[in-house]
Amino acid sequence: MFNRRSLAALAGAAVLALSGALPALAQPVVIKFSHVVAPDTPKGKAALKFKELAEQYTEGKVVVEVYPNSQLYKDKEELEALQLGAVQMLAPSLAKFGPLGVQQFEIFDLPYLMADYDDLRKITDGEVGQSLLGLLDDKGIKGLAYWDNGFKIMSANTPIQVPDDFLGLKMRIQSSKILEAQMQALMAVPQVLAFSEVYQALQTGVVDGTENPPSNMFTQKMHEVQKHATLSNHGYLGYAVIVNKAFWDGLDPALREQLDRAMDESTVYANSIAKEENDWAMDEMRKHGYTQFHELTEDERAEWLEVLRPVHDEMASRIGADLVAKAHEVLGIE
Ligand code: LMR
Repeated sequence: MFNRRSLAALAGAAVLALSGALPALAQPVVIKFSHVVAPDTPKGKAALKFKELAEQYTEGKVVVEVYPNSQLYKDKEELEALQLGAVQMLAPSLAKFGPLGVQQFEIFDLPYLMADYDDLRKITDGEVGQSLLGLLDDKGIKGLAYWDNGFKIMSANTPIQVPDDFLGLKMRIQSSKILEAQMQALMAVPQVLAFSEVYQALQTGVVDGTENPPSNMFTQKMHEVQKHATLSNHGYLGYAVIVNKAFWDGLDPALREQLDRAMDESTVYANSIAKEENDWAMDEMRKHGYTQFHELTEDERAEWLEVLRPVHDEMASRIGADLVAKAHEVLGIE
């Protein structure tokens, strides 16, 4: 029961609260992190790692909400949402920066540019990769890190072992002009589709095939609707982690430092699991047995290279001839 004294105390507290004299409970800063892949992929796992570390290092002053599988936005919409501030963080694939006006990122899409993760590191950690992140500033975006996924395989419902096999096939691509040129070099018909639409497009025959790292192919169940795949490793798919610049610059500097630490550590984590996640997905797809996988013979690989390498010169002016020349130099490509 309330007595006169406790009632007076309550009334006093109410007056203080109403007058704003009581310290307001600080609201956490919310970072909405939207992405289009499954949680059990290199990007999905790294986003959750960032959430864990960011919330730990800021002692809950920052809350990270991760929205996987295009739950919030599809490919193109998520970039618009970031610029409008409807979400704060994304990790789009490097093939999706063209519509932002920074098509230089499409250098990562050049077929047979990087042979493996060691080559990839030379680009992401070197002058080429770092200069690309700097280009985002003018777009109201800050580039924080590169997160790896993997090297792509081609899939379709007919065998695609040599370039001639692609003639007339409708192939889904991401929104990159380099990927468009790559499919045209194979005499296929490229079709841009949002990632969330690919499974159904393959299932219903809207497109015949696509290209993916094994992790994306497996976690979207695309292998269930593709009878053939070739382990061509002809190109790379990976990400840049980006934030809305006004949001990031407006953060308390101490908080930003803790978030930088969380990002650095989740980047190390992301890039340490990418290869094993893709190897695991490959093993799983082989076990499931829906798709017949073909390894390129040396002669077949030579045919792919002969058809696809000219895309470097053909598309150099779109990316920037100097940038392409720099990447070639770093990677020892003649
Ligand atoms: C795709 O659209 O194929 C990929 O960019 C999806 C992703 O984010 O890995």
